[in-house]
Amino acid sequence: MRVLSGIQSSGTLHLGNYFGAMKQHIELQHQHECFYFIANYHALTTIQDADRMRQLTRDVAIDYLTLGLDPDKAVFFRQSDVPEVTELAWILSTVTGKGLLERAHSFKDKTAKGLPVSMGLFCYPLLMAADILIYRSDIVPVGSDQVQHIEMTQDMAGYFNQTYRPVFVRPEPRLNESPLVPGIDGQKMSKSYGNTIELFGDPRTIRKKIMSIKTDSTPVDEPKNPATCNVFALLKLLADPAEVTEWEQRYRSGGMGYGEAKQRLFELYEERFGRLREVRAGWAARPDDVEDVLRAGGRRARAVAREVMAEVRDACGLVVARE
Ligand code: ADP
Ligand code: TRP
Repeated sequence: MRVLSGIQSSGTLHLGNYFGAMKQHIELQHQHECFYFIANYHALTTIQDADRMRQLTRDVAIDYLTLGLDPDKAVFFRQSDVPEVTELAWILSTVTGKGLLERAHSFKDKTAKGLPVSMGLFCYPLLMAADILIYRSDIVPVGSDQVQHIEMTQDMAGYFNQTYRPVFVRPEPRLNESPLVPGIDGQKMSKSYGNTIELFGDPRTIRKKIMSIKTDSTPVDEPKNPATCNVFALLKLLADPAEVTEWEQRYRSGGMGYGEAKQRLFELYEERFGRLREVRAGWAARPDDVEDVLRAGGRRARAVAREVMAEVRDACGLVVARE
């Protein structure tokens, strides 16, 4: 079974990315053949500054390695080290109706807000489909926001296979364990909403952010509803099950202030991520090693992509076989 997923290098990674995506990615590397990449071509739709792109790409790589991604187990690479995906995206565009892309949420949301849409953003699902199909991925672990893109990928694989011959396998989405991690304002935690708790932020800033998580104004003495509380939602991700049950009871019985839960959340954050700051600093001090990891992964990924592309090109009649 081949597993594939990508994460854009469009900002600093946060708890939503970790619990929504990276944690599962790292766990799956022990069970399956995994391909994970940094989607820097996709990130070009928002980051258009070369130095910042390089920095953000390296930061995503360092974060993954710090969190335990093992480049000997998973193929870990930079999307742009396999330029064949852009060729496949073009080929897929020729068998895909414009209407399919017009239905993409990412495109519709921006248009509804009256924001300008580049052709890159419009074609985003084509490139994502190419990412998935070029490695013959069976399973794509993602957050709920990405499921539509995978359904579109299934459609595009079908269009190609019907037009030419069956070259692509049908990928299936697999929802991550925590499809929606709330941010400090209660909306989905996202780089674009400025409501994130970063993975390796400095303790003072993180504490401040945790203390500012939005809660309701139920007085200390009164019972509180854990199901609607943003602090509890995050505690649930970080605490062990026995402690979660304890907090649930404390919420329901009253006499507990949100400040206490926030303080514990900060401690749990520090227990999980604080000790990794040093590991991260170790990787950050060895940018050449990080680059070597990405390049080696890129070579492995490209070898697979080239084989599939040879079949695609043949199926479309782009190459002529010689005796
Ligand atoms: P962002 O919304 O911060 O730009 P991305 O779109 O780059 O994040 O997401 C990368 C991965 O992290 C995707 O698989 C996405 O589903 C997951 N993810 C991002 N934010 C969250 C969240 N708040 N809850 C759960 N998963 C998330
Ligand atoms: N669009 C994904 C996101 O924003 C990133 C991505 C690009 C991806 N190509 C992919 C995810 C292929 C899974 C498979 O999160």
